[in-house]
Amino acid sequence: MRIGVPKETAPGERRVALVPESCKKLIQAGYEIAIESQAGDAAGFVDAAYRELGVTVESGPAAVLGSADLVLKVTAPLVAHGSSPAPQRDETAWMRPGTIYVGSLMPLRNLDAVRALAARKITAFATDAVPRTTRAQSMDTLSSMANIGGYKGVLLAASELNRYFPMLTTAAGMVFPAKVFVIGAGVAGLQAIATARRLGANVVATDVRPEVKEQIESVGAKYVGIELKESAAAGGGYARELSEEDRRRQSELLAQECAQSDVVITTALVGGVFAPRLITADTVKAMKPGSVIVDLGADGGGNCELSKPGETVRVGGVTILAPVNLPATMPFHASLLFSRNLTAFVLAFTKDKAFQLDFADDIQQGAVITHDGEVKHARTREALERS
Ligand code: NAI
Repeated sequence: MRIGVPKETAPGERRVALVPESCKKLIQAGYEIAIESQAGDAAGFVDAAYRELGVTVESGPAAVLGSADLVLKVTAPLVAHGSSPAPQRDETAWMRPGTIYVGSLMPLRNLDAVRALAARKITAFATDAVPRTTRAQSMDTLSSMANIGGYKGVLLAASELNRYFPMLTTAAGMVFPAKVFVIGAGVAGLQAIATARRLGANVVATDVRPEVKEQIESVGAKYVGIELKESAAAGGGYARELSEEDRRRQSELLAQECAQSDVVITTALVGGVFAPRLITADTVKAMKPGSVIVDLGADGGGNCELSKPGETVRVGGVTILAPVNLPATMPFHASLLFSRNLTAFVLAFTKDKAFQLDFADDIQQGAVITHDGEVKHARTREALERS
């Protein structure tokens, strides 16, 4: 069975879906691999490193995608219509019907790609939709990429802030630590807390899922939160939107904490996809001059009312960063971890040197988005019907 790895060409994307370490494992398992020339360059993996392992390096995407039985990709395939950022490169058109795609499809954010995959009769698996079980943990690209986001978000904040993070005793006197407030303490938030703590900041954090208090404290932050009238836990670690009353009460707490903080890092997502608006314009206006917000919910629309995804805005004395696709800014480790996730997925279903479809398996059942012309994923189907 032949695996094809195209170069990622979305704007700003620097990751590659397979690194040489993973190619070695997949070749040992019986796969042939073809990669588009320079696909790994931006992440630090040159063509020669792939060639050395017996990977075929093709000069263009058509040869890679047209001959593949299994396509491994970082992002959703680029399609010619709708919101495609690169209309000249229609990746689904090059893929043959029956090809299997595995990657971070993010189907609810990429409905055009889902439509194209279904129309081309491609079997698409989204590694961001694997169930949150112990067995699927090694395949979960959402978690490995969120970890990078949390880490990098704090570094951006530290470099933008006009003061130190740690407490320092200097000949010129004492400097007190920065106060960092982290909103949403899932994978990205917990990494943000740990990173800010390592830099020496005082960290306070909040979340709406009750089990998170202990996790916040275990990485060295103080928990703050409101007693919710209705549970916000939606299962599998995902949160749902708060009721009107809980939202109002939470908003007061957030305003209070933001006003006392030097840095606010927001990571909240609902259903793992969309960012709830948590920081209002009034909350920003009441923050201290010089303070910094890093809105890590930017990929999902933004947690702050004043964020502009992909841009930095200054409101009064407050700087708001809303970086998109932070994992692409650390492409070596992002690619390494992503590649390990995809490889774990492929090897879990490899038998007789080929990937075996098995929709009775809970991981394939959760991750399959399209198959044989149909959209199999219920939430995606509903979103398509609404769109
Ligand atoms: P996520 O990216 O969907 O959301 C980030 C965080 O925002 C969550 O902790 C959520 O509760 C929080 N949030 C949502 N609305 C909020 C609001 N109004 N105010 C404050 N916080 C809000 O979640 P993520 O990071 O992908 O996963 C969350 C948890 O799921 C992890 O901490 C882990 O326990 C679990 N998980 C389990 C996996 C497995 O077992 N294989 C894999 C990945 C995650």
